[in-house]
Parts: sequence; structure tokens; C-alpha cells
Amino acid sequence: MSAENRDVTGKNIQTVLTHAGSKPAEYHGAVNVPVHRMSTIVFNSYDEFEKVPNVPYSYGRAGTPTSAAFEEAIAAIEGAHRSVATCSGLSAILTSLIAFASAGDHILVTDNCYGPGRKTCEEVLRRFGVDVEYYPPMIGGEIKTLFRPNTRLVFMEAPGSLTFEVQDIGAITAAAKEAGIKTAIDNSWGTPLCLKPLALGIDVSVMSATKYISGHSDVMLGVVSANASSWNAVKRAALMMGLCGGSEELYLGARGLRTLKPRMDHHREAALDIATWLSTHKAVKQVRHPALPSCPGHKNWKKYYQGSSGTFGIILHENRRENIARMLDGMALFSMGFSWGGFESLLFPEQPGHARSASPWTEEGFSLRIHIGLEDKDDLKADLDEGLERLAA
Ligand SMILES: Cc1ncc(COP(=O)(O)O)c(C=O)c1O
Repeated sequence: MSAENRDVTGKNIQTVLTHAGSKPAEYHGAVNVPVHRMSTIVFNSYDEFEKVPNVPYSYGRAGTPTSAAFEEAIAAIEGAHRSVATCSGLSAILTSLIAFASAGDHILVTDNCYGPGRKTCEEVLRRFGVDVEYYPPMIGGEIKTLFRPNTRLVFMEAPGSLTFEVQDIGAITAAAKEAGIKTAIDNSWGTPLCLKPLALGIDVSVMSATKYISGHSDVMLGVVSANASSWNAVKRAALMMGLCGGSEELYLGARGLRTLKPRMDHHREAALDIATWLSTHKAVKQVRHPALPSCPGHKNWKKYYQGSSGTFGIILHENRRENIARMLDGMALFSMGFSWGGFESLLFPEQPGHARSASPWTEEGFSLRIHIGLEDKDDLKADLDEGLERLAA
């Protein structure tokens, strides 16, 4: 893990985040790109019309100055050839899969992937003849034993949803590369502040910009970033499925980038402090924070990541429903919600077992995903401490 985080031109990531995609001279000096509400885009001449699609903008779904500003900024921090925005993180995942998988193809998806992404594989890709196989997240280079002549893509997520194992993404990528298979990763947890998938040789990085990128829990947005050899397939997949971000959401996504670094600094520092404290708490059986040795794959986090975010898991000794409900229902600062990455702290009580097949989840204790927001960490600790006390009451 290194503290240095620079883009391909050598600029510090904080500097890049402050200016990427900003073109004040084009917008009367406005430092943030304005919201361009566009569907129809009219042409000045037949000559210009005939140049489509080789014009900057032709129709709202294919791109606007607002989507271009957001995508340009994301491509800069991901170190990507280019990026394309979609309407949600889930549609960004689907774009990365559809870009490379056709009927009769085989794809490998990590067993600890985001649950609705797995459902999309089952209910959409399988229906259209793609053979989806889930692999144990900690398989590393042995993934090669699962390759078939028709394997087209390995999809990774690190750390995995709910269970937080950190995959050996370098070993998996090297094996896939050797076999000529494309690789993609869900980078929503780390963002390019913590992980640079394309620099590690991964072809495609997907993010739910709903989370840390926009950061204020009021936006649905996704983004897919690709290297040069994967870009056309990715852009075409998004276009052909009619996926695009809404104008307001793209604007908020681009604005969120300006404060991503200081927000992430707070999330990281507070989450690490709270996770370390929780690992000494008598009610807690295990803390799954990628930056702590108790997390499966911690050594992979050390090897590939430049930092951590504010989201991690814990496993409690307790698992009786009435005691868990007493804890959760009495929380003062933590709310229960299906997201993370926003300014507010959240607890998420979904149990991971039902969504695994290649590497069954055998843990008996109750599992909680914790997102540490921007509140004061001591206030959050006090809320958690009281909640954990209620488990035993
Ligand atoms: C790891 C991960 N990837 C993707 C998504 C999907 O993002 P969205 O909710 O923007 O569709 C989520 C949402 O919770 C997630 O946790």
C-alpha cells in the first residue's frame, strides 16, 4: 500500500479531482459543468448531419456536455482510455458483461459479487444463452483451471459485497491475460483513490457512482471505464441497451468528484478507528475490514490497494432475531438502508449465505455491513457500543 496516488501525467489525484472535466471558458466562467438537458440536438447543415456519429453530440442518449465532463473526469482518475456513464451501478455491471459475452459463451463471476448483479446474471444473461459460472473469490491464479475454450470474461469484485474478502486480483488478471480472456472488476468500494484496476492490467472497471463518487445519497448513477482495446465493445453495449445517466445525476456525480478525496479521507480514518475498536469488543466475533489482518485477503489489499474506504463488515457472536432487532431498532445515528458511500452512517443486516454457491457461507454469527459516514467517530462508537450492549439485555 502506498500513500502516493498520481494520474498518468504525474499529477496528484487531489489535483486531478479538483479540475478534471472542468471547462470554465466554455460555460461563461462557470467552474462546474452546467446541467445540459438535451434529447434533440439540431444540426446547422446537412453537411454536419452527414458526419454523425463523428460529431461531439448528436442525440441526448449518446452523450451531452454534462455526461462528457463526468466521463472525462472519471477516465482521468481511473487511468482509462475512456469511460461511459450509465443510469446505475447495476446497469454498469450489465454493460461490462454484455460487452464481451454472447450466446454460447462462458463467463466467470466471483461468488461474492453484488447480489442484484448475480440475479442479473441468472435472470438475463442465462436467458440469452450465456453460461455463467461462479468461482470461489479466493481462487487466485488457480482460476485457470476453470477456463474453457469459450470463456470470454472474468468478473471480479474486491472486496466482495457483504463478506469483504479481497481477491488476488493480480494473479487472476495474469491468468486471464495469458489465456486471452477479458477481465472486469467492480471498483465501487475503493474508487480510483484506493485501487487503479487498469494500471493492474484489468480491462474494465465498473463503479456504482451512486456510492462514494456522488457521496450524498441522492443520486443513481453508474460508470464503466475501459482500456483502448475494450472501449468500443463497452461503449456499444451501453448505447445498444439505451443506457445513459440523467442530466441532473451526471452533474451531481461530477460535482461529487470535487470533494471525493476529503470525504474518503474522513471515511477511511473513522472507519479504521471504529473497526479496530470493534475488534476488541466482546460482542464481536470477527471484523472484516480489508485493511485489518482479520479480513480474508488482507495481504491482497496490502499488495494492490492505496487505501481503504468507510465500508466494512462484522460478524457478531449473537444471532437470535429478537436480540438483533433490539440492537438495530434502537440505533440513534446508524440507519438501516440498502446503500453505502453517502455522508450518513448505515448498518445493513442482510445475511450473505443465500447468494453463494461456489464457496458456501458457513458462518453462524449474525453479519452486519457497516458504512461509516461523516459524523464524529466517537459519537458513532457510542451509538454502536450502546447497540451492542442491547444484544445482551
Ligand atoms: C458493490 C456494488 N456494486 C454495484 C452496486 C449497484 O449500484 P446501484 O445501486 O447504483 O445500481 C451496488 C449497490 O449497492 C454495490 O454495493
